[in-house]
Amino acid sequence: MTAEVIVINHPLVQHKLTLIRQVGTHTQDFRRLMKEISMLLAYEVTRDLPLKYEKIQTPLTVMEAPMLAADKKMVIVSILRAGQGLLDGMIELIPTAKVGHIGLYREPSTLTVVEYYFKLPIDVEQRDMLVVDPMLATGNSAIAAVERLKETNPTSIKFVCLLAAPEGIQHFHEQHPDVPVYTASIDERLDEHGYILPGLGDAGDRLFGTK
Ligand code: URA
Repeated sequence: MTAEVIVINHPLVQHKLTLIRQVGTHTQDFRRLMKEISMLLAYEVTRDLPLKYEKIQTPLTVMEAPMLAADKKMVIVSILRAGQGLLDGMIELIPTAKVGHIGLYREPSTLTVVEYYFKLPIDVEQRDMLVVDPMLATGNSAIAAVERLKETNPTSIKFVCLLAAPEGIQHFHEQHPDVPVYTASIDERLDEHGYILPGLGDAGDRLFGTK
């Protein structure tokens, strides 16, 4: 199986990404840019959704018009807490999507991943799932989240982030080669603290103004 990485290099995405990376971009603008970028990502990520044709009446005539074949069949799962930044724009563009949340942290002494929150709509088995987290850094939380989410048997899973480190992509695809990664950029590398370089810093702190 070829593990897929799709870099969304649309000029609008790249321009907004440059703005959001900058240290002088404060919470209000950071949040707005994250929302705008997430709408553009949602546009690309849903590019392969199948269409069906339905007869409609325009003011002038009747036509067979395209509509989503599986409207109301998507679930977006936010990895807490920074995933919330990508979620807002995505549900604005895909208002019929249901939303799930997963919260994980790494227990410092054992380094095992602990799940502290997990809530999904009941009918995920019939849904295409987008798992969102702005930063694919080490890949550890993305791997654990997707492992847990696979247990719920969604129709498909895509992972969507803003920035990815090469190490994170490799690690993630070693565990989940079947899950395509959509990102606006593959950055250079991780630093010794697990931050993406050049990156944008701590996405959660910048989104919520907690630093
Ligand atoms: N999480 C972040 O918020 N930023 C990084 O650079 C890496 C992980």
